[in-house]
Amino acid sequence: MSHAPDTAPLLSVEGLSKTYRSGRRLADRLTGRPETQVRAVNNVSFGIRPGEIMGLIGESGCGKSTLGRAILRLHEPTSGRVTFGGTDVTALSDDEMKAMRRRMQIIFQDPYASLNPRRTVAEIVGLPLSLHGLAKTPAEARDITAAIVEKVGLKTAHLDRYPHQFSGGQRQRIGIARALVSHPEFIVCDEPVSALDVSIQAQIIQLLTDLKREMGLTYLFISHDISVIGYLSDRVAVMYLGEVVELGPVETVLSNPRHPYTQSLMSAVPEVDRPGHKARVRLTGDLPSPLAPPPGCKFHTRCPLATEICRHKAPVSETVGAGHTAACHRLHENLSVPEAEPA
Ligand SMILES: Nc1ncnc2c1ncn2[C@@H]1O[C@H](COP(=O)(O)OP(=O)(O)O)[C@@H](O)[C@H]1O
Ligand SMILES: [Mg+2]
Repeated sequence: MSHAPDTAPLLSVEGLSKTYRSGRRLADRLTGRPETQVRAVNNVSFGIRPGEIMGLIGESGCGKSTLGRAILRLHEPTSGRVTFGGTDVTALSDDEMKAMRRRMQIIFQDPYASLNPRRTVAEIVGLPLSLHGLAKTPAEARDITAAIVEKVGLKTAHLDRYPHQFSGGQRQRIGIARALVSHPEFIVCDEPVSALDVSIQAQIIQLLTDLKREMGLTYLFISHDISVIGYLSDRVAVMYLGEVVELGPVETVLSNPRHPYTQSLMSAVPEVDRPGHKARVRLTGDLPSPLAPPPGCKFHTRCPLATEICRHKAPVSETVGAGHTAACHRLHENLSVPEAEPA
């Protein structure tokens, strides 16, 4: 699964930011309070090599979906650049971007919300074929659609049914078929198993890893579940309040997390506790509001290791090992967040 570090990236993200204008509430308008802005993604950079699975992990609300959508320009980035297969996708016209989406697709978390309830499976899965002119006749479109539907583990008898006639796992298979029918090279998998029963999650993860191998795909795989990320990723990026705070080969980051946030996330998950380490670190407090992120290091309000400098100066990302980077003022002290008393 791993790839030589010098392989040119298929996808590169450079200084990508996305700020949402949050709609003014009535009270704000009456009092003349200015519109607020949410910095959902702030200056994120990384590359994904061909055939790689890059995991993206972080708490709910930290900007994972926004990053995935900004890469595909489903939400227009505020600044920064995305290059795919040598093309600057951030510079493409709307029409050129639509054409590029044949090669860059997304699988959503909620397979029910993302499938049109009034369309049959054949119509839903076949839509990208007509959007991109990939079938010459309706019969050819039907054949291509039937083939991909079977490839994701459904039957051709399912083609004329509607989304509500399927289970959650089957609906996610429909979403996967729709993403794959145009034979893309890159897929953003945005928490594709998070809404599914645990028993179904393993089947869908297996399907996604099989399809990745058979179809030569590259994934950005978003999850808040470290065990899922650990199971299937080659590398992992850890996000906190819109920023990547640690990135590296998945075995390295999970066995030797260097950022106090990664350490806290890891120790909250019993399955990935290192042998002999059963105690947990409490990740105290809630994620601060991205409307008013803390100054300095954004993690300082919850970091057990925070000192004065962390409160006013943002740390920069530094190399801490082969292909492993982290952004923390105290990296060189080799500290670990203290573990909480066992409950
Ligand atoms: N369309 C939007 N308009 C305004 N704010 C948004 C929008 N989408 C997401 N946000 C905000 O951006 C932040 C990051 O959200 P999101 O990317 O969905 O996080 P995650 O996927 O990690 O849970 C959150 O504070 C969220 O409320
Ligand atoms: Mg999300």
